[in-house]
Amino acid sequence: MLTRRKFLKSAGGIALAAPLGIADVAAADETSAWFRNPLGIPALDEGRMVGGERIFDLALQYGTSHFINNMATPTVGINGSYLGPVLRVKRGEDLHLKVTNRLSEPSTLHWHGLNLPAVMDGGPHQVIPPGRTWAPRFNIHQPASTQWYHAHMYHRTGIQVYHGLAGLLYIDDDELRDLQLPSEYGVDDIPLVLQDRAFNQDGSLRYMSSMHDRMMGMMGPVLLVNGTVFANFKLQKPLTRLRILNGSNARIYNLEFEDRREFLQIATDGGLLAQPVPMRQLVLAPGERGEILVEFSPGEDVMLRHSPLPSRPRRHGAGMMGMMQNMMAMNDAPFPIMRFDAGQAMVATRKIPAQLVTPRDWPEGEAVRSRRINLEMGMGMGGGFRINGKSMDLGRIDFRVPLGETEIWEIDNDSPMAHPFHIHDTQFRILDRDEKPPGAGEQGLKDTVLVYSGEKVRIITRFEHYADPRAPYMFHCHILEHEDAGMMGQFVVVGQS
Ligand code: C2O
Ligand code: CU
Ligand code: CU
Repeated sequence: MLTRRKFLKSAGGIALAAPLGIADVAAADETSAWFRNPLGIPALDEGRMVGGERIFDLALQYGTSHFINNMATPTVGINGSYLGPVLRVKRGEDLHLKVTNRLSEPSTLHWHGLNLPAVMDGGPHQVIPPGRTWAPRFNIHQPASTQWYHAHMYHRTGIQVYHGLAGLLYIDDDELRDLQLPSEYGVDDIPLVLQDRAFNQDGSLRYMSSMHDRMMGMMGPVLLVNGTVFANFKLQKPLTRLRILNGSNARIYNLEFEDRREFLQIATDGGLLAQPVPMRQLVLAPGERGEILVEFSPGEDVMLRHSPLPSRPRRHGAGMMGMMQNMMAMNDAPFPIMRFDAGQAMVATRKIPAQLVTPRDWPEGEAVRSRRINLEMGMGMGGGFRINGKSMDLGRIDFRVPLGETEIWEIDNDSPMAHPFHIHDTQFRILDRDEKPPGAGEQGLKDTVLVYSGEKVRIITRFEHYADPRAPYMFHCHILEHEDAGMMGQFVVVGQS
């Protein structure tokens, strides 16, 4: 079992040997077969119905994982040793989650993507001390979607999520059911939680050991999918739905199949798109979800990989900022993520509906105000991670947002790197990126949007259902090390006067 000392030790600060590289991991693999490890599928937890409520019992706990051969890695998980179950709920239901903290340090559990009362949000204000249980209850009234949950402890979100405190939450509804998309969990409806990790020679996770980790956020050379290294998924149906979460602390993925086959994006963060969008590459930044349908023929054996992001015009040409951009471009090499093996005979395919749903939208003319969000990074110690010139302060409320009024938020990235900007409590639509409409795959409900260096993104939304002048929600960069370092702010939703 992992002690608090070991958990903290892997936080860095202690002299570390060279980290394990992907080559070490492969060479150490006796069977020498790359991508032969069966993809781990998280347990599916549908809770239990009591008095009209769907109840989930969740425990944050220490564990030991064996990601790489027989090396023991101290980790944390929810009802397990690493990550948590997929929680499956239905639109309209009342949830009651009993979250017990069995760790020796305080933590929280945040419901990312959900519209709920601020005191149920599980952000840095809803701390669960060791040994205590926090039991939020709220109603689910959002459309079918792939949401997720993760630790959100003030200054400790990065390290806690990195060690395993995250999981998926599926919302089902009748509209989704009627579309008859692939929906057999673990068979043709597959969760993929993408996370990159660095390891020390002793098998422990290596966290924050360099200036690069602090500036860019924590990245590592080893790719985990649902906690599996070199994952292989044996397909059973020709048409498969992948629900992909970028659950990494900092890495942005540009996903493609090695044969560059076409696939269909069917959903964004907040639910289904209006229609399936054909594409060959899907960019997912930390916190974002994308659902795709992909078709395979018997006998095919295809890798999913990251392909370097197309280069973008730079605002910072010279000096430190320009140097940093060059450094980042150099770091972005292609790498394999996992393998899809369609070796077995598969049963007949099914039809893909041409139309899906009508995702919620707000006409621009309805907006009553617009707010400016400036994402900033300095080069000093600590990185100077700020929003609108300010570093996160639990005692400061940045915005008071009136309930039920449509707002535009203009997010301006005045820093040398891309930041995924996330808002709690609401889903939004992207109005434009540098005055151009977003791509078809982004024309749906979002709660996190990647804002490239020098780019300005406008989003539109309306905060609904819950007002509480005393309990704040967060907005922040979803690179967890940036969030922990101060690139976060707070807002309250207030009743209309
Ligand atoms: Cu995914 Cu403030 O969270
Ligand atoms: Cu969130
Ligand atoms: Cu950031």
